[in-house]
Amino acid sequence: MLYDFDKPTDRKNSNSYKWDRYAPEVIPMWIADMDFEVAPPIKQALIDISTHAIVGYNHTPDELTEVVIERLKTRHGWEIQKEWIVWLPGLVPGLHTAARCISDDYYAVMTSSPVYKPFLEAAEIGKRRLQNIPFIWQNDRWEMDFEEMKRTVNPSTRLYMLCNPHNPTGRVFDRSELEQLVAFCLENNLVLCSDEIHCDLILDDTKQHLSIATISKEIENQSITLLAPSKTFNIAGLGCSIAIIPNKELRQNFEKTIYGIMPRPTGFSYEAALAAYKSCEDWRVELVAYLKQNHDYLLKEMNSIPGLSMIAAEATYLAWINYEKTGIENFTEVLEKNGVGVMDAKIFGGEKHFRLNFGTQRAVLEEAVKRIKNSLS
Ligand SMILES: Cc1ncc(COP(=O)(O)O)c(C=O)c1O
Repeated sequence: MLYDFDKPTDRKNSNSYKWDRYAPEVIPMWIADMDFEVAPPIKQALIDISTHAIVGYNHTPDELTEVVIERLKTRHGWEIQKEWIVWLPGLVPGLHTAARCISDDYYAVMTSSPVYKPFLEAAEIGKRRLQNIPFIWQNDRWEMDFEEMKRTVNPSTRLYMLCNPHNPTGRVFDRSELEQLVAFCLENNLVLCSDEIHCDLILDDTKQHLSIATISKEIENQSITLLAPSKTFNIAGLGCSIAIIPNKELRQNFEKTIYGIMPRPTGFSYEAALAAYKSCEDWRVELVAYLKQNHDYLLKEMNSIPGLSMIAAEATYLAWINYEKTGIENFTEVLEKNGVGVMDAKIFGGEKHFRLNFGTQRAVLEEAVKRIKNSLS
């Protein structure tokens, strides 16, 4: 191992959203950033800009565009054109833009809960309408409810918003599920917006990320794929995301919607993204191995606690843990009183679960597990 993910880090007094949310004795395991230092090439890129000390307006480095194109081709088998890329200062802005850029009328946006909160908010904030078709538990996993989706879709529905790999259930949807979704979108003439921000964090060796736009040329032509290095390389605070929109008219609508409102990424975020995608693959591989060990430890521990159950996460550093059998209504508050800060399922439009971020040092995770056990004893 080249990198030491066990190395303690201190994020207190650094205006960290994650670490300032709770009382100092609480271990914060809520928002999705990790407690690890960035990889050395990213650190160096940030130092280089600081040393130069001129931070005027920047355009996208050509090399970054080339690296992204090459990465999609070699890792995901997707050949994209340079002009399909729209650079964004964050991925959430991309979700909100997708929800309002398809046309000017009061259309409906379909998605499935539980899901990362912006998916549930984007339609209504954008003065569109949400059609939320919750996932169903079948075949020992969370699946899209295609029957209900078919019953609900109507001519006012214009968009389906997919999160794959999925936050918070940790699913990596397989080819047959994605093909079914694509067929549904094509039959009903829906744009398919796919947030693939977690695609480089696959924990389950038997799973492979499938970019939605590679399923067919037809869906490529009515898709918006959102990507970012931020989750994988722990640079969420810098904000640099990518929307890939092959269809010219859709892309122009998307660009028109953000015009004058959304800033471009900064020099810091472009250079960090470039360093991440170009020079940090060895770090990423070791990170995923470390996260997998954290995951396997947590899975075993959670499933040994009466009242709690956890399903294996196929990707991400976010665990989705069922507390229904504890019989405790406000279990998340109980956890906070016992020193562990997690997110309740309600935030994701779900119930009786909490989401725990295990992207932290093993020693911190072990302490959190101890406290979770205490909360039920
Ligand atoms: C699925 C998903 N999309 C987007 C984001 C955040 O994107 P950004 O910080 O670039 O707006 C997150 C963060 O947790 C996420 O899990």
